[in-house]
Order: sequence, then structure tokens, then C-alpha cells
Amino acid sequence: ERTRVAIVGAGPAGLTLAHLLHRAGIETIVLESRSRDYIEGRVRAGVLEHQTAQLLYEIGVGARMRREGLIHRGIELQFGDTRHRIDFEDLTNGKSVVVYGQQEVVKDLIAARLADGLGLHFSCEVTAIDPETGSAPGSRVRYRDDGGVERTIEADFIAGCDGFHGPARAAIPAAELNVYDHVFPFAWLGILATSPPVSEELIYANHERGFALISMRSRTVSRIYLQCGVDEDPATWPDDRIWSELRLRLAAGVGKEIVEGPIFQKGITPMRSYICAPMRYRRLFLAGDAAHIVPPTGAKGMNLAIADVRVLARAFARYFAAGSIDLLDAYSETCLDRIWKTQRFSAFMTRLLHRYDTYDPFERRLQRAEFDYLIGSRAAAESLAENYVGLPFAETA
Ligand code: FAD
Ligand code: DHB
Repeated sequence: ERTRVAIVGAGPAGLTLAHLLHRAGIETIVLESRSRDYIEGRVRAGVLEHQTAQLLYEIGVGARMRREGLIHRGIELQFGDTRHRIDFEDLTNGKSVVVYGQQEVVKDLIAARLADGLGLHFSCEVTAIDPETGSAPGSRVRYRDDGGVERTIEADFIAGCDGFHGPARAAIPAAELNVYDHVFPFAWLGILATSPPVSEELIYANHERGFALISMRSRTVSRIYLQCGVDEDPATWPDDRIWSELRLRLAAGVGKEIVEGPIFQKGITPMRSYICAPMRYRRLFLAGDAAHIVPPTGAKGMNLAIADVRVLARAFARYFAAGSIDLLDAYSETCLDRIWKTQRFSAFMTRLLHRYDTYDPFERRLQRAEFDYLIGSRAAAESLAENYVGLPFAETA
């Protein structure tokens, strides 16, 4: 089999790339190791930046998001017992974010791909990636299909959209990559509960017992995160412990209004910052979590993945339309500019809002001063808001 671009991974990066390339008339095949049920049920991120949502609307996969997504015009920040609203519309000239689950975005993209009758193969695990075979068409991907048969796809290019643990990054010789890796000394316990959100907007709280975040998926389902230790087992968090810990960490008032409902999903998310550069080796291009991880506090992981493939799709479109490699050559640098700024923001939010057991009294007061500066200065609030709703996309042709 052969195609123009072989896409490894059907997460937000791979599926959005496939859709953008289809719109540009470029043929692709998407290979996904997991089943369709598995990836449509995988609970992850939930906040779409202003421009991410605009992009999904523009490319025709936003109809359900327009109906079911929740528009958020601000967030609440809490430090101890002090709460403060960051008003996005006021601070960013009218921008907002959309709360809509990542797996809903994935479902919508899968539906569009299948409706177009295009190549998307589930339960097909990529086992080898050869970024340059030396002969036309240039590169090769090997995979095991859903019946266990080994197959090969020849492609002009490979897009490694296979997440943090996928084979694409590993196919690049280590000596070709610069790796930046930072692991934070805590994790998040994340849950979904049938419980009406206590607040119209997300609440990010720094409490002496640790970070808490109240988010939502709908008017009846809450998504809640609590800071916990890195090695914790969700089994040590029975439902009543989760609810009582949440009440303790929320400022008086909100805590009382929480409606305890059945918790139907629990998981632990580690907190890490990771970048590998460059995001390209010969005919292989990495996008999304395959190349970088941000800690989730800034709600950026999925948004960054989609920003990468927007740049990559434009570069492929230019190459296939005009034979020009300039945008492909610029791909990594173009993306890394946004990625580093997003790492900065995600680390800033993480350090602002978590309990660090190692902090001395001076560092604790500095953290409080950072919060007081935010709530007292329009310039500081504008900076947070501008980043949260999303920095402008890169200008490429
Ligand atoms: P992925 O969504 O990881 O997609 C990669 C795909 O490649 C997967 O479907 C995988 O099955 C497939 N794949 C892997 N190996 C192979 C192979 N050999 N062959 C074929 N296919 C393969 N971000 C936030 O902003 N907020 C959050 O709360 C949040 N929570 C998260 C919780 C968890 C447990 C994880 C893992 C991530 C979370 N993130 C969160 C980050 C966010 O979900 C990711 O940034 C986003 O999924 C990146 O999209 P992607 O398409 O690059 O990668
Ligand atoms: C959600 C996740 C985040 O990491 C975040 O910062 C805000 C919301 C969520 O899953 O709803």
C-alpha cells in the first residue's frame, strides 16, 4: 500500500492532521493501535482555546461542539480563602474558551473521517518506522493489522502523532535530539462525577492541603482534580475521601454547595514538562504529545497538539502544491516558539497553584505575592488571560 502521508496515531493531533490534509486534497492513511471504543472513551483534557475551537468550526467538525460545548468567559482563582475572577472577555478583547471533552473532539473527527470514506484503521499497531528508505517514495511504516498480519505502507512522509509513548520519537537517533525533561513532585487525581457543577466557571484553587480544580463536562457532570502524591493508587481514594478533601480545599461557601454524586471514573495524571527538538528527522515529523508534554494546569496539551498539526498541514500543502520545502524545513522552529511559550505558561500556573512540600516560608510567601499581584494588577491578569484563551497561531503562508 502507499500514500502521501502515513499518520501514526488517531488522537487529536493525528485526526485533525488527516482532516486538514483531506481538505487540501492530500491523501493520508491513519493507523491507530487501539480500538475505536477505547479511544472514544479515553477521558483526558476538556478546555479548547478560542482559536482551537474556531479552527474546528471552520473545518466543519464543530457542529456538535457548538450545540453541546460550554462557552466560558472567565475562570475563578482561589488562594486560601480569597477568590478572584479572571474575566477573559474584558481582558482579551472578547475572547473565551470552550469546555468540551477531548474524547468528544475525537469522536467528531472520527465520524467526519469515516463519513468521507477515508483510511482510518483501528487496532493496527505500528511496529517500525523508517524515516528514509533511500528509494521513492521515501519512507515506510510497518504495522500489525487487526487480524495480526504484518503490513507495510510506503509514504512520502510520516507524521508521528502517536503520543508520548509511541514509536515515532524512538525512531529518531538519540544523538539527533535535544531533550528537555522536568518532572513535578506531585500528580493529579482526576474524577468524573454525576454532580451538577457548583460554579458556572472553573475554579482553580491553591489550598494549604494542595491544589484543587473544579471543571465540568456538562450541566450534570463535574470533572474534578485534586493534587496528590506521585505514586498514589486511586484505590486509596474512596468517594467519600474525595468529596471531603474537596470541601476542605475550597473556600468556605463553595465547599458547602457541592452536591455529592456517583463518581464513575478515577485516574492519576503525572505532571511533567518535556520537549524534544527538533520535531523532525528526515521524512518523519512529530506532532503533539509525541514531541512534548505540558503539565495540565494550563489546559494546554490538546490545544498544543492541534496548533502543531495546523502548521504541519500548511507545510505539506505547500510542498504538494508547489514542490516547496521551505515550510517543512521551518516546521520545527515554527512550532517550538509556541511550545516554549506554552511550557512557560503551564509551569507558571503549576507553580502558582500547587502545594510544594519543599518550599521554605520565603517561597510560600512569594507564591502568595504572585497571586496578590495577579488579583491587583490588570497587566498581570491580562497576561494570564491572553495565555489561557491561547496565543495567536503562527503566521505561515
Ligand atoms: P494522544 O491523544 O496521546 O494520541 C496518540 C495516539 O497514538 C493514541 O490514540 C495512541 O493509542 C496512538 N498510538 C500510540 N502508539 C501507537 C502505535 N505504535 N501505533 C499506532 N498508534 C499508536 N491535557 C490537558 O490539557 N488537561 C488534562 O486534564 C489532561 N489530562 C490527561 C490525562 C492523561 C492520562 C493523559 C495521557 C494526557 C492528559 N492530557 C491532558 C494531555 C492531552 O490529553 C494530550 O496533550 C493530548 O491527548 C495530545 O494529543 P495527541 O494526539 O498528541 O496524543
Ligand atoms: C480540565 C483539565 C485541565 O487540565 C484544566 O486546566 C482545566 C480543565 C478538564 O479536564 O476539564
